[in-house]
Amino acid sequence: MNLHTSVFFYIIYVQGILTSRVLELTDRFPEIRKDGGMWLVQFYAPWCGHCKKLEPIWMHVAQALAKTNIRVGKVDVTRFPSVANEFKAYGTPTIKFLKPDSEHTFYGDRSKDVLVNYAIRMSLPPVQEITKSDVLNNLKNENQLFFMYIGKREGPLWDVYYTTAVYMQPYVYFYCSSEDVAKQHVNIHELPAVFVHKEGVHYFYPVEEGNGEEEVIHLNKTLYKWVNEERFETFPKITSDNINEYMQTKKYLVLVIVEENKINEIPPDMLEFRSKVENLIRNKRDVYHKYFQFGWMGNPSVANSIAMVRLPLPYLLVFNSSTYHHHIPDDDPVQMTSQAIEVFLERIINSTSPAYGGNTIAVNTVRKILNIKRELEDMWQGNPVMVISVVTLPSLFFMLIVYTCCCSDLLDAEEEDEEELLYHEKNE
Ligand SMILES: *[C@@H]1O[C@H](CO)[C@@H](O)[C@H](O)[C@H]1NC(C)=O
Ligand SMILES: *[C@@H]1O[C@H](CO)[C@@H](O)[C@H](O)[C@H]1NC(C)=O
Ligand SMILES: *[C@@H]1O[C@H](CO)[C@@H](O)[C@H](O)[C@H]1NC(C)=O
Repeated sequence: MNLHTSVFFYIIYVQGILTSRVLELTDRFPEIRKDGGMWLVQFYAPWCGHCKKLEPIWMHVAQALAKTNIRVGKVDVTRFPSVANEFKAYGTPTIKFLKPDSEHTFYGDRSKDVLVNYAIRMSLPPVQEITKSDVLNNLKNENQLFFMYIGKREGPLWDVYYTTAVYMQPYVYFYCSSEDVAKQHVNIHELPAVFVHKEGVHYFYPVEEGNGEEEVIHLNKTLYKWVNEERFETFPKITSDNINEYMQTKKYLVLVIVEENKINEIPPDMLEFRSKVENLIRNKRDVYHKYFQFGWMGNPSVANSIAMVRLPLPYLLVFNSSTYHHHIPDDDPVQMTSQAIEVFLERIINSTSPAYGGNTIAVNTVRKILNIKRELEDMWQGNPVMVISVVTLPSLFFMLIVYTCCCSDLLDAEEEDEEELLYHEKNE
């Protein structure tokens, strides 16, 4: 190997280390960050199971972002609690995108594609200008949901569009373009205009006439609300990581609950039921879109904890995202025809369908017990020894007392109590 090739390989080697590595950050990070630049940072704890699961994904994210100006790092909050405090990272894992002048928390699905997409979107200006028709064509073909402003970049609609874009940048892409470029793709009746593009279709924002200052305030409210309702696909997959985002729509969530196996396969009867519900929203969007965000879940655990029972599968659950009440059909969902599903939804709209659960103290207590159970399971994956000491030491102590009182089945009795409570909740 001559000098040239070895220098060449050395450069590749060093670049490989520098670009694909996740930077392990310390308490010097707040100082380093002042130099500017964009950061995607994960705050983690060694015992946290979700962090362990995220670790290989995080390395792939760092690799995918290696060629960008976004640096990827992680902070161990047990070693550097002051850094976690400074960035208000109270849970683990917390993922933040840091720009030189602002900080954003990531709430989406913690998968590689979603994270990479998020980081790249956050590193760009909130509204990007499209000047060529074929760029718009590519966007449409990518199957990516986006918002578009057409017209002169001035006036109340533009101002409000821009501030909404700044606010919503963590979730979705915003573009602007001229009439000349856009009219090759959509029929525009009035300028300026805003539309959303999803699944091959455009839906325009219904601009209302108004005047003066009031118009801006009104626009600000309605455009934001419209964007918030339109920023999701018609029938997305909803997970425990991203369900909170869907609840921001403040609509009813109509959830088809199925169970995927390890390689994301769904049994045929569940698939059939899912298609039935999907067809309903695709064919009757104008009736239901205003009230409902549809979606499906491949894992029943969140739905079970909302309903507080183990649900049969497939299942249909409607969740009120402002009061946390839920609605369930009277009949076995699988037996329901499309008409029966429509009647079920109409009864929710006209408030004649019974609501269960909600945000009351009793329900929250039960949810807390379930959540503690889930958190312990999560910790168990990360650090079994710690769980054993957290759970069994007090239990051992407790058992000692029980045994001294010669009453050895108190523990079992307690478990039964919890189950009974769940049962009552359902029948309430
Ligand atoms: C819209 O309202 C938000 C707060 O709700 C405010 O921060 C923003 O400046 C407003 N935008 C315009 C253009 O008035
Ligand atoms: C949720 O429940 C409340 C109270 O019953 C109701 O006013 C509201 O319209 C419901 N739906 C949504 C989507 O918030
Ligand atoms: C509510 O909707 C259901 C289903 O369409 C209908 O049968 C019922 O009469 C409605 N109730 C009210 C009070 O409007």
